[in-house]
Amino acid sequence: MQSESFSGLHAAIIMDGNGRWATQRGLSRFAGHRAGAAAVERVVERASNLGIASLTLYAFSSDNWNRPMPEVQGIFWLLRAYLRMQMESLRRRGVRLQVIGRRDRLPALVLREIELAEARTAECNGMCLRVAVDYSSRYAIAQSFGRLSSVSHRLVEEQIHAVNLQAGAIDLLIRTGGEKRLSDFLLWEAAYAELVSWIACGLTSTSRPSMRRSANSQ
Ligand code: FPP
Repeated sequence: MQSESFSGLHAAIIMDGNGRWATQRGLSRFAGHRAGAAAVERVVERASNLGIASLTLYAFSSDNWNRPMPEVQGIFWLLRAYLRMQMESLRRRGVRLQVIGRRDRLPALVLREIELAEARTAECNGMCLRVAVDYSSRYAIAQSFGRLSSVSHRLVEEQIHAVNLQAGAIDLLIRTGGEKRLSDFLLWEAAYAELVSWIACGLTSTSRPSMRRSANSQ
């Protein structure tokens, strides 16, 4: 696809398959998530160069609290490190960072880093990078109902977009692990999204590095 085809689109990625990718190589699950976090840097750079308007990444679902605590802590550690190390680079690229999802259950240090990165990039007017953390689409929809006293379809839709910070409908939804499920991610916004699976593209988890090379060489 030509880069003009991506211009102005809203893309979303369910970043799974990290654990399987690591296990196949005899590595820890943390190493898989670390490779996933490194891929985020490349994807954000590429997406903003392509003129994508919004990119939403599913980093931590509300269901992920059920994972072993060391794995949860590892993911939050990677998220904090990403925000701390990439904040200035995001700013230079004009990328505005927004986090969607529940904030009331996040560790204080993670919340602080999120608020700092959001404030530092608030004036940026290039791509909007939305990171879903402690995110459940069902919860977001239910929460939007809670904000209403009298309910109409239009008001519900408005509130759903307000809860999810206004980026609107998803055009392209990528699931890196190959499953064909939404897993409680952006149920409303992805109603008409084109679904793309790494595996369906013939890119198995073992061929991800070559995917990286071909993406970089374009
Ligand atoms: C799901 O794959 C992935 C996660 C629960 C964590 C994703 C988080 C990161 C990549 C790091 C932090 C994020 C950013 C934005 C820097 P999985 O572990 O379920 O994989 P599996 O399906 O193979 O088990």
